Amino acid sequence: MTDSQATGSASIKGSGSIRIQPLILAAGKGTRMKSDLPKVLLQIAGKPMLGHVLDATKELNTLAPIVVTGFGSDQVQQSFPDCIFVDQTEQLGTGHAVQMAADAIPADSLVLILYGDVPLIQTETLQAVLEAASDGKLGLLTAHLQDATGYGRIVRNGEGAVTSIVEHKDASAEQLAIKEINTGILAADAKNLVKWVSALNNNNAQGEYYLTDIIAMAVADGVAIQTAHPANQTEIEGANDRAQLAELERAYQLQLAKELMQGGTALADPNRIDIRGKLTAGKNVSIDVNCIFEGDVALSDNVTIEANCLIRNSNIGNGSHIKAFSHIEKTDIGQGVDVGPYARLREGTELADNSKIGNFVETKKTKLGKGSKINHLSYAGDTEIGENTNIGAGTITCNYDGANKHKTKIGDNVFVGSNSALVAPVELKDDSTVGAGSTITKDVEENTLALTRSKQSQIDGWKRPTKK
Ligand code: UD1
Ligand code: CA
Repeated sequence: MTDSQATGSASIKGSGSIRIQPLILAAGKGTRMKSDLPKVLLQIAGKPMLGHVLDATKELNTLAPIVVTGFGSDQVQQSFPDCIFVDQTEQLGTGHAVQMAADAIPADSLVLILYGDVPLIQTETLQAVLEAASDGKLGLLTAHLQDATGYGRIVRNGEGAVTSIVEHKDASAEQLAIKEINTGILAADAKNLVKWVSALNNNNAQGEYYLTDIIAMAVADGVAIQTAHPANQTEIEGANDRAQLAELERAYQLQLAKELMQGGTALADPNRIDIRGKLTAGKNVSIDVNCIFEGDVALSDNVTIEANCLIRNSNIGNGSHIKAFSHIEKTDIGQGVDVGPYARLREGTELADNSKIGNFVETKKTKLGKGSKINHLSYAGDTEIGENTNIGAGTITCNYDGANKHKTKIGDNVFVGSNSALVAPVELKDDSTVGAGSTITKDVEENTLALTRSKQSQIDGWKRPTKK
């Protein structure tokens, strides 16, 4: 008996030109999740658990994965149209699930059995299982656990060779003491596998067709069982209820946080960051607590993100500073830009170098030129703003007439006084000024002051009313 450890080696020794057929068991309802969604569509880091399993197989250059579904199979199929689906309407056990897939499995393939609710399995570990299955052997992923309760136990003979798996509910007191458990993940020759599962019976404590019974059949057929082991334990853990799902989420997030820190990013607390997609960060980046990154987010060098920001599908340039509680979506931010606190940048926002967005400012489809500022309490929508322009506090672009959206164009070196309404479509040309409190409905020409507020009057000796 020899063991192969997951080491991250890229080649699968001895598998030659054998085609790898992933077979993913995903028929379980996940009753304890109490969800309307099939269990394997519940998410880790914003991606369905089944998606994580499929991603782990991608680099292995496999045949199109076969997925065995039961509860909610239509929903699962719609989410993963590139897989081959097999229905298991009645869940009579893991062996029965593989029986259902028998006709879909190419006879000359090496079948890699995986589970839709064991999402954190790594490609390197799967490579180790496939290597273990080289030269006609059966590769089996096992682990040693302090508490093996509930798992199938790996039974070995005097020479240390695996001879069978016994399920917890069928195990003797002696077998229950075994700490080496079956993860369920295995690789076996297709023809043998189909032959073995067709010979299964359900004479056991649970009245199920156990896939695990094929181990003793393989040994009887002279097929050696070679074990491999995961690099870490979360890889083999399943999610059966919300608490386990949340545990896997935290384990996964902590791993992503560690990778970021290894790349040099300073995280205030690796336990308080959530990455739901792909986050890349340059040098000297720091991220405070409780930030959420969704989709594709790229942070250049020297970016600072303060606490409690949500950033989705956005790019942030060198030296820019995102202050606390900002919400940023589909936005491109240049270099040396200051945003927030409490800014809301919506889709199509582009902030050029050294521009500034302050607190309680909302933008949508808005370009802000170099060095320009919108510092307080404003809304800019469908707006193009030039360079070195200052938009005063409380400025609102009135971009919507109730039926259509209209554009506002603001040039370079423009000064918009506070509490102005710019009724689109309208243009404020270069070097123009708008007096505070104006409602602008006509274009403002270069080097002019536009003012629409009424003149201030004065009543001398005015007495305020007093209480009677
Ligand atoms: C199984 C193994 C056990 C192992 C454990 C690891 C068997 C008989 N036992 O036990 O040795 O230690 O996994 O977690 O295989 N499924 C189907 N159709 C079915 C039954 C199950 O698709 O008819 C799927 C489930 O959705 C689940 C997976 O197979 O994803 C495992 O099924 P489960 O019933 O949880 O197996 P265990 O009893 O945990
Ligand atoms: Ca289980």
